Amino acid sequence: MKLLITGCSGFVAGSILAQAPVQWELHGTGRSEKLPDAEGLPAGRTLQYHPLDLLDREKMEWLLRSVRPDVVIHTAAMANIDLCESQPAIAMAMNTDATERLAVLCRETGARLVFCSTDTVFDGVKGRYTESDPPNPVNVYADTKVRAEQAVLAASADNVVARLSLVMGLPVMGKGNSFLADTLEKLKKGESIKFPGNEIRTPIDVITLGAALNELAVNGFGGIIHLSGNTRINRYEMARQIAGATGFSPDRILPVNSNSLPGRAPRPNDASLDNALAKRILDTPMRSLSEGLTLALSRIVSGEW
Ligand SMILES: NC(=O)c1ccc[n+]([C@@H]2O[C@H](COP(=O)([O-])OP(=O)(O)OC[C@H]3O[C@@H](n4cnc5c(N)ncnc54)[C@H](OP(=O)(O)O)[C@@H]3O)[C@@H](O)[C@H]2O)c1
Repeated sequence: MKLLITGCSGFVAGSILAQAPVQWELHGTGRSEKLPDAEGLPAGRTLQYHPLDLLDREKMEWLLRSVRPDVVIHTAAMANIDLCESQPAIAMAMNTDATERLAVLCRETGARLVFCSTDTVFDGVKGRYTESDPPNPVNVYADTKVRAEQAVLAASADNVVARLSLVMGLPVMGKGNSFLADTLEKLKKGESIKFPGNEIRTPIDVITLGAALNELAVNGFGGIIHLSGNTRINRYEMARQIAGATGFSPDRILPVNSNSLPGRAPRPNDASLDNALAKRILDTPMRSLSEGLTLALSRIVSGEW
């Protein structure tokens, strides 16, 4: 089995790579010339790294046709919601157009595509969203992801759209988009941190997520699946639990209404996901917030972080 991961220096990609079965041949793409933090890979795990800007159409095609992966897990994205809002053309080029080209190339080369989408494709009015609920994006980032989802599903019935909830954990390689790492840094410095009490999510730990994505790479499921934790909680209460679990006072976490912050792109209030399908078809167990936090923090306890 030959797996290609796009955006392999990213937060989610690191967990996929770290947990991929040792017999898999691993390939990864990233924008830098060299993998930024190759020593972050577990011992004995080798990755063939390919520099690739996904906006480079010709190089993407050349790479897919020369590597010929069995499966592509597409994690690379312009994932900063506020940046997407201020640079919508680049966001659309990266998140939608590049994904669509990748989906076509995967179909032409016979690769299965597992695409990382987001809980924020929903407008956040109803909450507890199932896979059959219709998306209704409230910001540019979500809009680009919904369009990408459609392209991925149209390219092949074997493809997977995995909608990820807020991801919690520590990066394996590089820094990545880890709010837990940022939060712990600030708590260590003695800072107080604001978290939105109006944003309800079903956070998933990055270790469970990496295992689930590896399983989806080979288990034959096709279509949309929600990968989320079992606990529905607002981000302020979640951050208080994180502070408490890491030995800091929960009082250092302050509530804020994210919709009242000037210059911030709109977010859905309740983007909680229903994970019944994932529980039914995956061997990887979906976990509660406290179970996920224990797993996510195990790297601190073991002295790795
Ligand atoms: N983290 C979450 O809470 C969360 C929640 C829901 C969905 N998701 C989705 O899950 C996926 C992974 O998220 P993450 O948190 O791991 O993100 P991340 O840490 O920000 O990683 C994103 C990766 O995309 C790469 N990338 C960006 N633009 C690129 C381009 N033009 N060409 C090639 N690579 C490019 C980045 O590479 P560089 O290092 O070169 O910048 C980076 O490695 C994303 O699709 C995101 O939308 C994440």
